Amino acid sequence: MADKSRRAFMGKVLGATAGVGAVASLYAMKRTWDPLPSVISAGFTTVDLSPLEAGKLSVIKWRGKPVFLLKHTSDITTDEARDIVIGEDRYTVVIGLCTHLGCIPEWRENDKIFHCACHGGQYDPHARQTFGPPPRPLDIPPFSISGKTITLGDEGPEYKKMLTMA
Ligand code: FES
Repeated sequence: MADKSRRAFMGKVLGATAGVGAVASLYAMKRTWDPLPSVISAGFTTVDLSPLEAGKLSVIKWRGKPVFLLKHTSDITTDEARDIVIGEDRYTVVIGLCTHLGCIPEWRENDKIFHCACHGGQYDPHARQTFGPPPRPLDIPPFSISGKTITLGDEGPEYKKMLTMA
């Protein structure tokens, strides 16, 4: 009799353990299938560029990455393939991660360069690499333009045109 109740008790314990395991597995699968939280919360970011001061770097966060916003001063040459043009103003809008190993470069306003302290990489005001190990310019995030605002994450016609010139 004691054997029978012990067997029944063990059966219940095993059943309960299997049930908890199954629920945990389902929860883990659901988490894997769900989109990343950053995609849900930060897929599109709209930025008003009108308050930007020429020559001063602004940095915002988009999809967990720094994005550099630089309104050009009049002495910065034009770069039709990389400048974002809104009215009379030109902007550099790039992901602020060095294309060498991912450090965040600094903007040196007096020298008009982006300088990466990690290995000495440098980029011009259009974020094209000019010195050191970076293999390519800083990346331009997808964007669309509406008035004086840009929406990061949205592939507008101006962005698609840039892709053809890259
Ligand atoms: S990470 Fe920028 S130069 Fe190496």
